[in-house]
Amino acid sequence: MSKIISGFSKFTKEEKIVWLTKNYFHKQSETVNIIKQYWNVDKDLQQLHDDFIENTISNFYMPYGVAPNFLINDREYVIPMVVEESSVVAAASLVGKFWSTRGGFKTKVIGTTKIGQVHFMYAGDKAELKNYFNQNKTELFASTASITKNMEKRGGGILDIILVDKTDKLSNYYQLHVTFETKDSMGANFINSCLEAISKKFETPDIEVVMSILSNYIPECLVRAEVSCKISELGGEDPQKFAEKFQQAVKIAEIEPYRAVTHNKGIMNGIDAVVLATGNDFRAVEAGAHSYASRSGQYSSLSHCEIKDGIFKFWIEIPLALGTVGGLTALHPMAKLSLEMLQKPSARTLMQIMAAAGLAQNFAALRALTTKGIQHGHMKMHLQNILNQFDANDIEKEIVTGYFDKRTVTHSAVVEKLNSLRKPKVNWVNFLDEQIVRTQLSKLNKNSKPIFGLMKAQQMIEHLSTVTQIANGNWDVGVFVSDEKTARRKPFLDTENELQIGFKASFLAEEPSDLKFNSIEEAIGDLVYQIEIFVKVFKYDKSRTVIHPFFGALDFEYWKMFQVKHFTHHFKQFNLR
Ligand code: MEV
Repeated sequence: MSKIISGFSKFTKEEKIVWLTKNYFHKQSETVNIIKQYWNVDKDLQQLHDDFIENTISNFYMPYGVAPNFLINDREYVIPMVVEESSVVAAASLVGKFWSTRGGFKTKVIGTTKIGQVHFMYAGDKAELKNYFNQNKTELFASTASITKNMEKRGGGILDIILVDKTDKLSNYYQLHVTFETKDSMGANFINSCLEAISKKFETPDIEVVMSILSNYIPECLVRAEVSCKISELGGEDPQKFAEKFQQAVKIAEIEPYRAVTHNKGIMNGIDAVVLATGNDFRAVEAGAHSYASRSGQYSSLSHCEIKDGIFKFWIEIPLALGTVGGLTALHPMAKLSLEMLQKPSARTLMQIMAAAGLAQNFAALRALTTKGIQHGHMKMHLQNILNQFDANDIEKEIVTGYFDKRTVTHSAVVEKLNSLRKPKVNWVNFLDEQIVRTQLSKLNKNSKPIFGLMKAQQMIEHLSTVTQIANGNWDVGVFVSDEKTARRKPFLDTENELQIGFKASFLAEEPSDLKFNSIEEAIGDLVYQIEIFVKVFKYDKSRTVIHPFFGALDFEYWKMFQVKHFTHHFKQFNLR
């Protein structure tokens, strides 16, 4: 049956969820539960979020973190950040603090001009078009009067309208290129409304408007942020070397597009997080930043570095179209909270804060990349995430974090370590202690039942004896174990791991062997005797090695390690402690 649906938008939220889960999910009620789990209990607040977009069925959480200790133009800030990537907030916080003791970030707005265009086609005489435009330019401004009135009161509005001839690139193609000042609002709606009013006024039977829309390429809505200090103040073992390597990393990003994209992505880690936290449009900011990075025709770094006269200087220039009034900034309670945290900044101030956050993020990434490598810090966070995922307690966290200080963090390695901590401690059997062996084994009788396997109690005791005889050199099972297999298998004996249930050497018959002795007591006596010989033969010849049919050539120490595991395995089989 077709799943194409008409009138979906008219469904209630409940109806939408029912239709969706029925048609696209296997476990309908579980899915409904997950969707509803993320509804806000406050109905009004949920309604507010529902109304931001269309067909809302739930909310999608992102972590909201804060990076304290940012000193920007001598003013202190705590920067709110919404981001899912671990290490971003930690890096911002560290670098914020680092530069707060070295003069902080110095920022300035270079320009705030935004751009919109009316794209149109005209096949007539160029001079006539020019005349028509010049004669009507004032009218074009006037056509937007009702839209620009309030903006003009705030000091903004349309700055200029120019006619651009693009016919050399596309026949008959022209533009009205309009520049705007939108003050504290991002201004997308304002710009688009103005452009539509202008295009209506401008259109004639000979002028065919194709579209009217703002541009996200805003090279004149630009902000600069900078940090600088004496190289000697950079700290670390060799600050001069650090500064030089850091500068090389920036220079690589200036000339190598593959690197520049990742370099700038790191900058955007910081910027997008603040853009989201303040309810701004991160797609617009991303588009603007990356297009600016390619303005020369080759994609390049947004940040730059200079070392001169013993001074390290690192700066960024980035276009940012932001708002601190209107849009989501006025509607989303968390966006409002973020702006209050930032001491109610103007759009100009917010541009400067974000540029500082981007520069800080870039500094953190380059510092890590050119020193310890990026994975060190990332993996520390990754480790904490895995530990949280497995509900590790504080002691487990301390042990596992210490263990991975100099080891490579992988998901499976962390889980293995955690599991080994959580595994009940093995009660290893000291098979060399006759007292223990006798006391435990004498608990067995003809009717004792194994927890696993087919052996009866006496068969198990005789089996321990037989294997001890192999070590003693009294039974050659004629099994060849290659050096390669030995090298692979023997390290297991060094571990804390037990022999797995079901472990069976290939030389053993499928069915347990026939009994050799008349009673369990006699079998225990033989086992104790074989253990005595075991100690003696190795004492007599200290360099002696004997082939174990699975692990290969073992000396006394390795045979003991095997015997401990083997005895423990079979004692467990009969629930002996
Ligand atoms: C990862 O999100 C960002 C970095 O790749 C940035 C960079 O390489 O500069 C670490």
